[in-house]
Amino acid sequence: MAWASRPQALSQNIDDRITNGKIIYNQTCVACHQAEGQGIPSAFPPLANSDYLNADVDRAISNVLNGLTGKITVNGGVYESIMPQLGLSDEATANVLTYVYNQWGNNGTEVTPSMVAGVRASTASAH
Ligand code: HEC
Repeated sequence: MAWASRPQALSQNIDDRITNGKIIYNQTCVACHQAEGQGIPSAFPPLANSDYLNADVDRAISNVLNGLTGKITVNGGVYESIMPQLGLSDEATANVLTYVYNQWGNNGTEVTPSMVAGVRASTASAH
């Protein structure tokens, strides 16, 4: 849908982030992590009730900014696959992660663009 690919208005609060982040999730993450964040066993790890996600917000931000490879364990399942870099802006990364953190039993963290910018700056040298 054409409207969905236009830049979004800047989110002013957590409710805006969740609304805008849901659109990004359904464009950018759903193919792998699935509609209810349940993932696909042995291929794509769950974002629903994810112990890995809830343990470390900076790591989750880095995963979305930089992609992820190598072995990880999520909710007792082992994954050794590749998440690509997605090229999202600080604002879009903040919104999509706030959406994910406020769905499916996760811990309700609000991720802000300045948190994303901080992780972007501290992980940039790795790429
Ligand atoms: C092409 C498939 C793909 C897409 C698209 C994708 N991911 Fe992932 N994601 C993966 C894979 C595969 C891993 C595990 C990588 C590994 O095994 O090291 C992962 C891991 C993660 C993790 C850490 C593990 C966990 O389950 O908590 C987070 C957080 C995450 N992705 C969030 C996102 C978000 C948010 C988006 C959309 C902005 C997204 N991913 C888009 C495939 C994808």
